[in-house]
Formats: sequence, C-alpha cells, structure tokens
Amino acid sequence: MIDYPAQNQRAMKNIIDCKNIQKTYGAGDTATVVLKGVTFSVKEGEFVAIMGPSGSGKSTLMHIIGCLDTPTGGEYLIDGRDVSKLSDDELADIRREKIGFVFQAFNLLPRTTVLRNVSLPLIYEGVEKTKREGIAERALADSAFPQKFWYHHSNQLSGGMMQRVAIARSLVNNPALILADEPTGNLDSKTGETVLGTFQNLNEKQGKTIVLITHERYVAEHADRIIHILDGKIVQEESNGVHQRKATINV
Ligand SMILES: Nc1ncnc2c1ncn2[C@@H]1O[C@H](COP(=O)(O)OP(=O)(O)OP(=O)(O)O)[C@@H](O)[C@H]1O
Ligand SMILES: [Mg+2]
Repeated sequence: MIDYPAQNQRAMKNIIDCKNIQKTYGAGDTATVVLKGVTFSVKEGEFVAIMGPSGSGKSTLMHIIGCLDTPTGGEYLIDGRDVSKLSDDELADIRREKIGFVFQAFNLLPRTTVLRNVSLPLIYEGVEKTKREGIAERALADSAFPQKFWYHHSNQLSGGMMQRVAIARSLVNNPALILADEPTGNLDSKTGETVLGTFQNLNEKQGKTIVLITHERYVAEHADRIIHILDGKIVQEESNGVHQRKATINV
C-alpha cells in the first residue's frame, strides 16, 4: 500500500473556520445586521461554492474570509490563526501570501499589457523583471490564457480573456486559497463555462482551495460542495461530489 502522509494531513486541515460569524453595519436605529451567525469550514484542497440571492450577505462574508474586513461577532480562523488577534500588517501579509482574489469586474489596468497586469503584484513586492515575467507567464499558462495575447493591452481583450488575466494575476503569489466573487457575472454563459473550467483545473491539478461566490445554481454546481446562504444565515449545505460535479470544457 502506498502511503502519502503529507497529503493526507493536508487534506484534513481546515484553511477556513467560521464560527458563529456576525456582521452588523452601523449602530443603533440605523444598524443593519447582515450576517447572523455563520458557521462553516473549508478544508485545504476543497472547491466550495457559496450561493445565495442578491443581498444575502455573500460579499460581506467573502470580505471577512479574505481578511479585508473583520466580523462584529463570532470567530474567524484562517489556517488556524484567529484573525481578531492579528495586526493590520499581519492581515496584509496573510492576504498577500495566502489569498488570491478574483472579482466580477476584472479590475485590470487598461492600456497596459497583459503581462504587466499579471506582474503588477510582484512589481509592488520588488521582484526583479526577469523573475516576475517568468512567474507571470506561468500563471497565464495555468489560467489557459493564449500566449499570442500576452502583449495586448487588457482593454483589447474579450471579457473571458480579461477574467483569465485577473485569475493569472491572483496566482502570482502562489496563494493556497482563491476567493472569487461572481467571477462569471459579467460573462455570457458559454464564456463563463470555460472560466469555471479554469478554476476546476487549478483545484484539481494544483490543489488550490477555491471559494466561489455566486447567485446562480449552474455556476455553483462546478464546486464539490455548495453552501446556501439566505438573509445572513446558512440554510443548507450540499455535497456535489467530485464525480458528480458539472463537467466543463477542459481548458
Ligand atoms: N458597508 C455597508 N454598510 C451598510 N450596509 C451594507 C454595507 N455593505 C453591505 N451592506 C448591506 O448588506 C447586505 C448584504 O450585502 P452583500 O453585498 O454582502 O450581499 P450579496 O449577497 O453579495 O449581494 P449581491 O449578490 O447583490 O452581490 C445588503 O443589504 C447590503 O445593503
Ligand atoms: Mg456580492
């Protein structure tokens, strides 16, 4: 029997632990209670979708998971570390080292080449040119982005291609966790399908943990597990199973 202790241990470890997370904006009469006690965890290497209608609190939850915001109640642990005990600098380090973000609006610099857009986080970190371009090229290949467009300006690309650039940019720091908030929201369904295939590949081939936020069931079905959120609470969890999850065009 072949034993893979390191992989087994990795598979057991929680990267996300939300315990009774609450989030209220404002105070007094104007207070808006958005998250009302959200508890769930995500293991390393999982592909999880968080699904719910508009206003249910998905992005608020993603901001907390991504250490962009803090909860007003409950406990959030990332990689076993309680974020309430971390300084702003430590939170920034976690965001940079562990998390890649992908949003609905691709947030690329226009009139700037694809390669430079993807390299940008590394430029800020002072990585030298040859090294950062090598990393960016690999990230673009992992995002199924065609080499012939590497020197195109980002605003010359189709939406699907722009989102691949954003995915590649999220990969350059080699994050363990990718958080994607409605990544196919601006794409037609066929293009969206290929982008979802890219996330599946990153999950299967590179073991990236992926949390995908969506309001659409057919998008959520690309994940292994679907967590349903409604009005700031988890109302259902379903396991999609690796073998049942929706197949996409393999890219
Ligand atoms: N900074 C804020 N101050 C006050 N209320 C807020 C703030 N951010 C979000 N909300 C409110 O919290 C609720 C949940 O918002 P959130 O953006 O998390 O929902 P969502 O599920 O991501 O919706 P969508 O699918 O439309 O993106 C909404 O009613 C919103 O108005
Ligand atoms: Mg949202």
